[in-house]
Amino acid sequence: MKKNISVIEGDGIGPEIMKQTIKVLNSIAKKYNHDFYYHKTIAGSIAIEKFGDPMPEKTIDTCLKSDAVLFGCIGDEKYDHNPRGKRPEDGLLKLRKRMNLYCNIRPIMVYSEVNKSPIKKELLDGVDFIIYRELTGGIYFGEKGRSKNGEEAYDYCFYSKKEIERVGEMAFKAALYRRKKKVTLVDKANVLETSRLWREVIRKIALDYPSVNLDFLYIDNAAMQIIMNPRRFDVILTDNMFGDILSDESSVITSSLGLLPSASIGNHKSMFEPIHGSYPQAKGKNIANPLGCILSGAMMLEYFGMHKEKNLLEKAVRKSIEEKVCTPDIIESEFFSTTEEVGNYIEKYIQNQ
Ligand code: IPM
Ligand code: MN
Repeated sequence: MKKNISVIEGDGIGPEIMKQTIKVLNSIAKKYNHDFYYHKTIAGSIAIEKFGDPMPEKTIDTCLKSDAVLFGCIGDEKYDHNPRGKRPEDGLLKLRKRMNLYCNIRPIMVYSEVNKSPIKKELLDGVDFIIYRELTGGIYFGEKGRSKNGEEAYDYCFYSKKEIERVGEMAFKAALYRRKKKVTLVDKANVLETSRLWREVIRKIALDYPSVNLDFLYIDNAAMQIIMNPRRFDVILTDNMFGDILSDESSVITSSLGLLPSASIGNHKSMFEPIHGSYPQAKGKNIANPLGCILSGAMMLEYFGMHKEKNLLEKAVRKSIEEKVCTPDIIESEFFSTTEEVGNYIEKYIQNQ
């Protein structure tokens, strides 16, 4: 198969983790006779410096024309105080909106060899859940502003039934066809009107999926249950803001934010990005964990319908962890491997299969 892939390395450790990701994807392409064409394009602080815009139209165009987008990570504190619309993060939000990537999928799986979670081990064995986060609505995208004198600020949280339905359908389909038939809707329906609308819409969808079990948790309780009883979850369905918070929290279960991939899916377009930020403290040090980005690549292969390819890539990642070829975030520091060494191990493993 031929695929055109837009690549945005982004800020901080972005270029380093993306380099490893492309390397291992190339070894997959070679093995299975695919042609992957990468189209590098810029966003985040580099784009601010070059064009004064964290997400130039040209970048959006390139992304819209390709079969999928691989995204590294974004954020640079130098620009944290830029006006609204001109911060690196605004660029990412703009791209998600313009590509209409309404469904963000974040799998949380535990590798038994990795033991750097502060949570008791007996709570973690067998944890395997997935977060379906709405990605183009809610408080992230509602009107925002300040009063004239700057003394007051607001962020408007808005959801339409349609926005809830489309991500809700995706979550129920995943629960039914690919997982353990359980959806937990996380909201704050004891306080928020948008949450009450979510419950109404999701209850209705559930009628079409009688074999899927639906339950509800308030966000405050869910935040506690993820630590106390993470095995209770299968598919967590939630809005943009709560999904953002719960996915970082869930990374504590897996030991490192650096391990977690995500897929952002729209009707016709999709983007694959690790859930971590730009980790500027590690930039250029060859210590960043490339696995979140590489596993996002695996999710992209699955989206292309390349199931054997995805399985092999995931197997290679598992092997690297079993063989303790790991960056310092997931192994005792005296034994760590570099970002590059992890990529090389995975590349070799694929070549030797
Ligand atoms: C994420 C990130 C982004 C978000 C930031 C960088 C805007 O934290 O993908 O989880 O809040 O969605
Ligand atoms: Mn986040």
